[in-house]
Amino acid sequence: MAVLAVFLAGIFILLAIYCATDPLGHGPMTKFPGFEVYHAELPAWSELPTVRDSENRLQRAELRFLNQIQGPESIAFDPLGRGPYTGVADGRVLFWNGESWSDFAYTSPNRSEICNPKASPLSYLENEHICGRPLGLRFSKKTGDLYIADAYFGLLKVGPEGGLATPLTWEAEGIPFRFTNDLDIDEEGNIYFTDSSYNYQRRNFIQLAFTAEPSGRLLKYNPTTNETMVLLQDLQFPNGVSMSKDGSFIVFAELSRARFSIQIWSLSIILFLLIFSNFPPQCRLFRYWLKGEKAGKSEVFAVLPGIPDNVRANEEGDFWVAIHCRVSMYAYFLGKNPSLSKLLLKLPIPAKFHFLMLVGGRLHAVIAKYSPDGKLLDLLEDQQGKVVKAVSEVEEKDGKLWIGSVLMPFIAVYPLN
Ligand SMILES: *[C@@H]1O[C@H](CO)[C@@H](O)[C@H](O)[C@H]1NC(C)=O
Ligand SMILES: *[C@@H]1O[C@H](CO)[C@@H](O)[C@H](O)[C@H]1NC(C)=O
Repeated sequence: MAVLAVFLAGIFILLAIYCATDPLGHGPMTKFPGFEVYHAELPAWSELPTVRDSENRLQRAELRFLNQIQGPESIAFDPLGRGPYTGVADGRVLFWNGESWSDFAYTSPNRSEICNPKASPLSYLENEHICGRPLGLRFSKKTGDLYIADAYFGLLKVGPEGGLATPLTWEAEGIPFRFTNDLDIDEEGNIYFTDSSYNYQRRNFIQLAFTAEPSGRLLKYNPTTNETMVLLQDLQFPNGVSMSKDGSFIVFAELSRARFSIQIWSLSIILFLLIFSNFPPQCRLFRYWLKGEKAGKSEVFAVLPGIPDNVRANEEGDFWVAIHCRVSMYAYFLGKNPSLSKLLLKLPIPAKFHFLMLVGGRLHAVIAKYSPDGKLLDLLEDQQGKVVKAVSEVEEKDGKLWIGSVLMPFIAVYPLN
């Protein structure tokens, strides 16, 4: 007995030392000593949307261009209706002319063989800062120019002939962008865009999600004056942006917003939920008013059932929101308990594991449609992740939804009836 006790104690001490020192550098925060974890303001239980798509309609989507493109996040059609154009994992913007893909544009002045095709969308992460990563694409209907939000190269523009894009802005109020994410354009040509963080890069999106650091900003670039204005700051992982049809407001997605805490439940309930539940999380759409008496103010527009990415309006002015996955109780619980989060992030548990826990153990896509006043109009999903595992953007065109994802080697096309 005594021998066993000593043995167990020895193992325990070794484990403790291993966890405390992380000698192999497996922990997600080894490159970020001194990181802080913030409170996430989470909606009350009763506010959380519980709607499910029992028919799993996304399983009826058709997978197009399988293995011809890697990680198409944003999808756009030019003012003549041609396309799609899409930004892929190796940093290029590609164009489909109806028969084949060709290179249209790129954001990095510095591309080399390290940007060449690789086996999976995730293998590009390491060199993204050199090759570029276009995350948001929008054509100006007036000029035909393509505007690009690139995670590493800021806001850029390229003419209708394509080629190397010209950087427009890469900082605001003296603070450089580190994770430019999405954009939209108003009637006068102003660009509204998000920088998800001035600290964490896209390569470290898991760290950003788990620390909930309020280092994101909503910005406006005025091409006439060449000025970049901060509209909102201290945002926690702001992402997709879309103008309303009437131009009176923009909506933007945010993963979580700070300062609020409730009481912890008993550990057994938490463990149970961690393991068995895909629990809806802390994600919202916000509305930022551009016109009218509320101009310059923002408010909650809708509580989302999962982690949002890009937002795109259709011709009726409804908003399609790409939702990566419903978030697990794990994420919800950690959001409420920053100190526990911090502890977990210090352990030698790889970022991939945290990601898997974050999405509830299995990738599956959800897309939701909201009316211009924030009502949920429709929700489509593939709960088993059989066909559409993840989604980054939904673009509606001619009765079809074009669904891109940073994680997938295809575009899914879903026919609306
Ligand atoms: C281009 O890439 C090299 C290394 O591959 C790097 O040292 C240099 O800073 C890069 N330049 C720009 C403008 O990104
Ligand atoms: C716009 O402003 C940036 C500084 O923020 C400057 O580097 C750039 O040259 C300006 N562009 C034009 C066209 O004036």
